[in-house]
Amino acid sequence: MITLRDVQFSWSKNHAFKLAVPSFSISKGETVLLLGESGSGKSTLLSLICGTIHPTKGRVIVDGTTLADLSRGAADRFRAESIGIIFQQFNLLPFGSVLDNITLPLHFAPRRRKNCGNAAEEAIALCHALSLPQGVESIRAADLSVGQQQRVAVARALIGGPPILIADEPTSALDETSQSSFLDLLFAQVKEKQTTLLMVSHDPRLAERFDRVATMDQIVQVERS
Ligand SMILES: Nc1ncnc2c1ncn2[C@@H]1O[C@H](COP(=O)(O)OP(=O)(O)O)[C@@H](O)[C@H]1O
Ligand SMILES: [Mg+2]
Repeated sequence: MITLRDVQFSWSKNHAFKLAVPSFSISKGETVLLLGESGSGKSTLLSLICGTIHPTKGRVIVDGTTLADLSRGAADRFRAESIGIIFQQFNLLPFGSVLDNITLPLHFAPRRRKNCGNAAEEAIALCHALSLPQGVESIRAADLSVGQQQRVAVARALIGGPPILIADEPTSALDETSQSSFLDLLFAQVKEKQTTLLMVSHDPRLAERFDRVATMDQIVQVERS
């Protein structure tokens, strides 16, 4: 589902940080946790997989498509259809309602919209599945607790059933109890929909839930000067 081959990346010619991934792949439906310390390049790697940045060498292939071959507009559409993304800071629209936030990606992803049937009903069903309170859909995102905002971010990533879910340290803002219940809900959804999941984190305690755990050290050759 996700393949990196001989990938090299640097932010600029003279940037001290250089990322090199000789070979890394994730199968369809697999759940993978990638562990690495802060600054090891986890978020950079996710941006390469999402196609928001392109490798200086090598190829990133997602669901059969080489991202660098797409125009900017085609890449944006491809990402919107194929990948649900949970950002570390959630990136919700604070003044938008929960419903607006969850249904936002559907505006850029006609296939995901079609998968939903009724988008509002699907959004409310996801809120329910993620144990958000009844009626939450009409509340402003900014008025929710951090844990609730995180669940909204998950619902937004899951709506319309994108084949891939990518999560950048989604548990870092939560205490241990909320982390655990959040992961229960996330995995229930991922298993039900057979979603391919790649999560990056610095926290090895998350490991037991995943089909496979890799470390940045194992897959990446990093040069730092
Ligand atoms: N947008 C950017 N422009 C330039 N350098 C960046 C950018 N984002 C991250 N970096 C650099 O890339 C390196 C890896 O960062 P990052 O991928 O965010 O690591 P992690 O997510 O593991 O903490 C760091 O040296 C960071 O300063
Ligand atoms: Mg990061």
